[in-house]
Amino acid sequence: MKFEEIRKVPDYDGKKIALRGWVYRHRAGKGVVFIVLRDSTGTVQCTAKGKEYEKAEPLLIESAITIEGTVKKDERAPGGYEVQVDKLGIVHAAERFPITKDQSKEFLRDVRHLWVRSQPMAATLKIRSTVFGAIDDFFRDRGYYEFQSPIFTMTAAEGGSTLFEVDYFGKKAFLAQTWQLYAEAAIFGLEKIYTIAPSFRAEKSSTSRHLTEFWHAEVETAWQDFDALQKQGEELVSFIVQRVLEGHRAELEILGVDIKALEKVKPPFPRLTYKEALEKLEKHGMKVPYGKDLRTKEEKKLCAMYGKPVIVTHYPKEVKAFYMKEAPGDTVLGFDMLVPHVGEIIGGSERETSIEELEKRLAKEGETFEDYGFYMDTRKYGSVPHSGLGLGIDRVVQWICGLDSIHEAIGFPRTMDRISP
Ligand code: 4AD
Ligand code: MG
Repeated sequence: MKFEEIRKVPDYDGKKIALRGWVYRHRAGKGVVFIVLRDSTGTVQCTAKGKEYEKAEPLLIESAITIEGTVKKDERAPGGYEVQVDKLGIVHAAERFPITKDQSKEFLRDVRHLWVRSQPMAATLKIRSTVFGAIDDFFRDRGYYEFQSPIFTMTAAEGGSTLFEVDYFGKKAFLAQTWQLYAEAAIFGLEKIYTIAPSFRAEKSSTSRHLTEFWHAEVETAWQDFDALQKQGEELVSFIVQRVLEGHRAELEILGVDIKALEKVKPPFPRLTYKEALEKLEKHGMKVPYGKDLRTKEEKKLCAMYGKPVIVTHYPKEVKAFYMKEAPGDTVLGFDMLVPHVGEIIGGSERETSIEELEKRLAKEGETFEDYGFYMDTRKYGSVPHSGLGLGIDRVVQWICGLDSIHEAIGFPRTMDRISP
């Protein structure tokens, strides 16, 4: 018999079926063992009696088994169907599973290699897979090429304080914080490019939204101005959310997500300048001195005011990266997209094309100009206006799935205090 997926059980009412999976729940009653069997597609209650009772009775949860039996509609069974077992096969009788109810988040991280099979983790990882696919489709459908940049680099792009240093045959090199500087060179051949790759930041604090290794979707577009860039960010995020809503009602329900709030994620998103954001915050009792970057709690507050993603533009130069195009009033043509509960999910900008301005800004950051020679060349030979953005995929998953921490948004998180399992 061919093994069927558990989600197909209702199609077999009154018929024979073969299933395989893991024991999710186990209860021995009088003359009958109730097993809730789980595979990657769902769960179903199975009942074992007689000869099969003897085999089923000693099984511990997470044992791997096969079942042949008959599907019966039964109101009392979770999901409305149960399988009456004719034949039970034991593939592997599990040892006592270390995860029981109500264990601390920290313990669950210690045994993440076992916790990845839990319902909330599996639901999250399925949604995460769809998010990755949606990003690819979004850009490829719009004529973008996928372009890869190196992970070993010699330059900082997002500030020196979060660089991971590596010994590169006696030379000091760094793990890439972003693909951007290489992307800005590659647009001269390809014009419209994107990537999905890990980025590395030596984040020295453990927060609910920082990983040291995170998955970064980045895009760079020749000839594109700041306004079109913001639209692109808005459309990308709405597209991702739409895809998740189309394919993952069941998973969103397992995670207890507010689906109505996600349905409201449609362009345009409210846009305000940094200055306007400070005014709004002050009205709500949060005073931020001009020139200070917004902190997570302030970002969250702004989103709470609108109940949807918000775009904040024109930050002061000094809080943003050296490559962002200068705008009047010592601000930049850069934006952050903020979402409820998480804060920043996108950073993007039109790029500065003036070499003099770039040099000044690099010097201010204490960077040595020589290391950036290749980057300056992109401004010497047919320089054109261009813009791009980076989206933190783990944060997007955290937001969509309503997770308290980014650690729950990825299979095996990397943070300052965790590099295993
Ligand atoms: O705002 P950031 O630093 O922008 C850049 O890296 C640009 N070079 C992107 C570009 O224009 N091509 O990072 C972009 C996004 C952030 O908005 C955030 O969502 C995510 O990357 N991010 C992190 N996610 C998890 N853990 C961290 N430590 C992150 N640092 C940034
Ligand atoms: Mg940023």
